[in-house]
Amino acid sequence: MDKPLKLGLLGFGTVGTGVYRILQRNRSIISARAGADFEVSKILVRDLDKPRAVEVDRSLLTTDPREILDDPEIGIVVELIGGLDPAYQYIQEALSRGKHVVTANKAVIATYGARLISLAAENGADLYYEGAVGGGIPIIKPLRESLVGNRIEEIMGIVNGTTNYILTRMTQEKADFADVLGEAQALGYAEADPAADVEGYDAAHKLVILASLAFQKPIAIHQVYREGITKISREDIAFAEHFGCTIKLLAIGKRHPQGIEVRVHPTFIPNRHPLASVHDVFNAIYVRGDAVGELMFYGRGAGDLPTGSAVIADIVDVLRNCKQGTHHRVETLWQDAPVLSMEDVRTRYYIRLHAVDKPGVLAQVAASFGAEGVSIESMIQQGRGEDEPVPIVFITHEVEERRLRASLARIATLPAVKDIANVIRVEGGGR
Ligand SMILES: NC(=O)c1ccc[n+]([C@@H]2O[C@H](COP(=O)([O-])OP(=O)(O)OC[C@H]3O[C@@H](n4cnc5c(N)ncnc54)[C@H](OP(=O)(O)O)[C@@H]3O)[C@@H](O)[C@H]2O)c1
Repeated sequence: MDKPLKLGLLGFGTVGTGVYRILQRNRSIISARAGADFEVSKILVRDLDKPRAVEVDRSLLTTDPREILDDPEIGIVVELIGGLDPAYQYIQEALSRGKHVVTANKAVIATYGARLISLAAENGADLYYEGAVGGGIPIIKPLRESLVGNRIEEIMGIVNGTTNYILTRMTQEKADFADVLGEAQALGYAEADPAADVEGYDAAHKLVILASLAFQKPIAIHQVYREGITKISREDIAFAEHFGCTIKLLAIGKRHPQGIEVRVHPTFIPNRHPLASVHDVFNAIYVRGDAVGELMFYGRGAGDLPTGSAVIADIVDVLRNCKQGTHHRVETLWQDAPVLSMEDVRTRYYIRLHAVDKPGVLAQVAASFGAEGVSIESMIQQGRGEDEPVPIVFITHEVEERRLRASLARIATLPAVKDIANVIRVEGGGR
């Protein structure tokens, strides 16, 4: 009988213990499906005495990474530490030694993915990272394998559970951002320092990974346009409802003949769009391919067992490859296409401003839009405020962002306009 293949786990926190629990629970099914026997032979942690969510033989735990990276018997390294350092260094070292790597680390893959894919290929090793985007949702494998016959035109995702939870609560309770953030923190859905989530950094990392695969182009994090949800108010939520829309933080990648657009920002989407009904901490990724049409991947975007499920799927792929002696089955061909500047992106816009309600003001605002070629699809003016500014809301037709910005710069100089309170992009066709 063949000797069991040996796995080394780097990290034994939320996801590491989730992986271990699934391996304990479903070991025989997983082995049978992989067609190979395997065992976890070492687990790297920081603190040997920390209480763990699963029972584990203490002799498996180590604080010395060399016990995994230098062990020639360990052929598969599962990196679940998180962050760039030392995770990147360990992954690099493992691949350089021809060890196969499975990781759920979005930061490492978004930052160094192209480099690591080359390193894996040079060393005849596999690199899998299904858990890095969408937690338990299978999306990397569909993009790498199931959809290879398609030209992917568009990918749009709700890929951050914290912000989706906050926007869902704001919509349901007609509440303000700050109140709901506090509630999400109390429930453990948001970190004490929520910037990575609410400012869109986490979603931007995930978009880098998705768009690089979908468009076969290495995309750098600085090329992603990013805006968070902190400026969304209950007034915006109410106007979205009026227009038959929902506000979601979307990670958007689109292919155009002139280049690729990659952007993360709050977005109005029509209630009939499949992404509009993704609530709470759930994630979903919408993909449009030229052959398959529209697809939607939906599920839990985080958590020990959902993410563990994705990591196990990758481990099984590696085990199958090991069994069949066929490594690096998935080739990625990089193409040269420019990433468009945000100023060149064309979309529709929601604009909420406050202006004094005097005759002629609307005509001045309309003239400023018109001067830059921005045409208005809908408008709402609420209430009569005597000398008090009143809200005026516009939805534009599709226009280049450069023109929209130029028109807003004109509008901001009008004496009757008190402020431009918010501008939110609109996706998903007409009403
Ligand atoms: N949590 C999720 O739902 C989720 C979802 C999708 C993807 N991910 C990704 O999965 C990865 C792991 O996340 P997690 O939530 O499981 O993290 P976590 O709970 O913080 O666990 C991290 C583990 O790594 C160990 N560790 C940290 N720094 C180390 C170091 N310098 N040397 C040795 N060990 C070290 C920790 O050891 P101690 O236990 O001894 O402190 C801990 O066991 C991250 O890349 C994350 O982005 C997580």
